[in-house]
Amino acid sequence: MARTVAEKNPGEYGFDDTSLRAMGGEPAVRKLVNHFYDAMESNPDAQRIRSLHPATLDLSREKLTAFLTGWLGGPARYNERWGVIRIPQFHGHLPISPVERDAWLACMQQAVDQMKIDSAFRSYFMREIARPADRCVNRASDESISAGWD
Ligand code: HEM
Repeated sequence: MARTVAEKNPGEYGFDDTSLRAMGGEPAVRKLVNHFYDAMESNPDAQRIRSLHPATLDLSREKLTAFLTGWLGGPARYNERWGVIRIPQFHGHLPISPVERDAWLACMQQAVDQMKIDSAFRSYFMREIARPADRCVNRASDESISAGWD
């Protein structure tokens, strides 16, 4: 299983459940994910990645909330319900170039900006979430047009 933020980043936030607590606990992760998918639905730059998702986002919201809870050092909610997931491999069938990665991260930035959290943690969170996002990139920018969008 992928290592959690807590395992990889010893420091002010990256151990035990410090990151989850800095976010505001499990209810705050749900709030973050709701902001994230709301941003994806409304941000014009995110329409291509929105269209890769199912028509309704209820399950996507559930799954990302569950995943991020564990990734932030909390209980492994995703694994409890759906088993092991490896983020880059899971996204392997999706056309993700740096353009889609940046759109995804922009939605996450919009979401995290709406959270009442410490600004140092906000920067830390965005820095850390950019790592798995980068590992989801599986093609060059100019390939996304011919591979997924014609
Ligand atoms: C880099 C840009 C990314 C794009 C374009 C993207 C896109 C998607 C799409 C389209 C789905 C829905 C797939 C489906 O239901 O068939 C999905 C699911 C998911 N994504 Fe991403 N994603 C990205 C990055 C990430 C990152 C960085 C994480 C975690 C840190 C993540 C976590 C998840 C999870 C947990 C699911 C649900 C998995 C499941 O269905 O069991 N994604 N993503």
